[in-house]
Amino acid sequence: MRFHTFAILSALSFAIFSIVVIFSWRLDKTISEEVVAGKIVWQQYNCVSCHTIFGHGGYVGKDLTSIASEMTIKEMEEFFSSPSLIPPHKKVFHQSLRKREVEAIYSYFEFLSTIPTLGWPPVPVEIEGEDKP
Ligand code: HEC
Repeated sequence: MRFHTFAILSALSFAIFSIVVIFSWRLDKTISEEVVAGKIVWQQYNCVSCHTIFGHGGYVGKDLTSIASEMTIKEMEEFFSSPSLIPPHKKVFHQSLRKREVEAIYSYFEFLSTIPTLGWPPVPVEIEGEDKP
């Protein structure tokens, strides 16, 4: 290869590389600070001990992967401002959260509901005689 062909190809490669780098810097960050704050609330209160996300976690409560499409933020605020007694024994109250924490965790749930799961989680099968959660 002649030197000037090599120089042209190198310059062209460098130009393409620079354009791709600049373009990728300008892309929106997909995970906002609010979503990260919600994930921290999730971890702080150990919600995962009773609930699953993408099937990982505890089975006392339901899977919350797509909860943002089932509950509005208003309903979630109401749920956390006057938490119910946890079935089946009804001796312990559900975790309560402050308004600010609900806003953050709702953003986290909204983010989760944008991840394609091919219809997962499945609708739970009810077994006769089973204790309801
Ligand atoms: C000790 C176990 C336990 C922990 C810890 C727990 N939950 Fe729950 N959660 C439950 C159970 C059980 C229910 C169902 C309550 C009912 O039907 O009255 C529930 C219900 C919910 C619901 C309402 C679901 C619906 O469809 O009505 C939401 C939202 C929720 N939990 C979110 C959370 C979040 C967020 C955390 C952490 C801050 C958390 N939970 C921690 C057991 C738990």
